[in-house]
Amino acid sequence: MRHLLSTADLSKDEAVLLLDTAAQMAATQSREIKKLPTLRGRTVVNLFFEDSTRTRISFETAAKRLSADVINFSAKGSSVSKGESLKDTALTLHAMGADAVVVRHWASGAAYQLANAGWLDAAVLNAGDGTHQHPTQALLDAYTIRRHLAARSDRLPDGAVDGVGADLAGLKVAIVGDVLHSRVARANVALLHTLGAQVTLVAPPTLVPVGVGVWPCEVSYDLDATLDGWRPDAVMMLRVQRERMSGGAGAFFPSTLEYTRYYGLDARRLALLDDHAIVLHPGPMNRGLEISAEAADSERAVIVEQVANGVAVRMAALYLLMAGEDSAEGNDL
Ligand code: CP
Repeated sequence: MRHLLSTADLSKDEAVLLLDTAAQMAATQSREIKKLPTLRGRTVVNLFFEDSTRTRISFETAAKRLSADVINFSAKGSSVSKGESLKDTALTLHAMGADAVVVRHWASGAAYQLANAGWLDAAVLNAGDGTHQHPTQALLDAYTIRRHLAARSDRLPDGAVDGVGADLAGLKVAIVGDVLHSRVARANVALLHTLGAQVTLVAPPTLVPVGVGVWPCEVSYDLDATLDGWRPDAVMMLRVQRERMSGGAGAFFPSTLEYTRYYGLDARRLALLDDHAIVLHPGPMNRGLEISAEAADSERAVIVEQVANGVAVRMAALYLLMAGEDSAEGNDL
């Protein structure tokens, strides 16, 4: 792997390697000294053209835990606000010797452009591009699902813990809400399919993308029927992305009240789930809109754990992309 741009680019072996490496990274994080010398002398640039809390901080934490030097660049307060292009920004980072660039951008395809235009000699990690992809989010979601649910199956290699070595075959995941604007949904559908899980998207017809028929998943407009009839093992709630809706907050569905009534996860719907089922949300949450406070804070919710797992997954991605040939062999951490 040279770059991490899309979960659709990952083979099953590559995806499982990333998850297994993340499990190794997580094990190092319970040590008294969390820092590893692996990327000493290497520079990671966090290049953020859109706001972020979780992704930016966890990439920074991950890079520092691997002993890399970290440069944080945000479009606000930089020469981007004076009109500087992505190309000239990239050439500046190249001149400063970036070894990896973590990029979040409002334009779908920006990470591909950065990786393939020849402006940089660095690994590019997509931290979210428009409505297109968010591969490390999907990987941390899959990692979290695997930790909780894959160990229930009989597919684990002997002696494996926390699902290490396993794919997600046989698991059912419902992805619920604003699929139209969601790079998290797109990244998850591709990765979960690669890992063998079944996926059902649940959304109002107004928030289902044109072309979803060729995605490797089912589509439902009825959340109650999906929870009660299909019985998913994991329910992933999506944020309603009102900032990406041109018609104003009320235009995406007849009203926010109706959205919550038909597609919100609340205590009544939680009670429909099987005992082992878990609830995920990539954050940030609109409490009271797509998820009630009761559901977000329930014992089924693994939302805070997703954030913690994000550090291990991003350490794994940086390590596999930056530590050279040896990293694929699983050299000592
Ligand atoms: N899940 C996610 O991408 O969150 P941030 O926007 O806070 O990075």
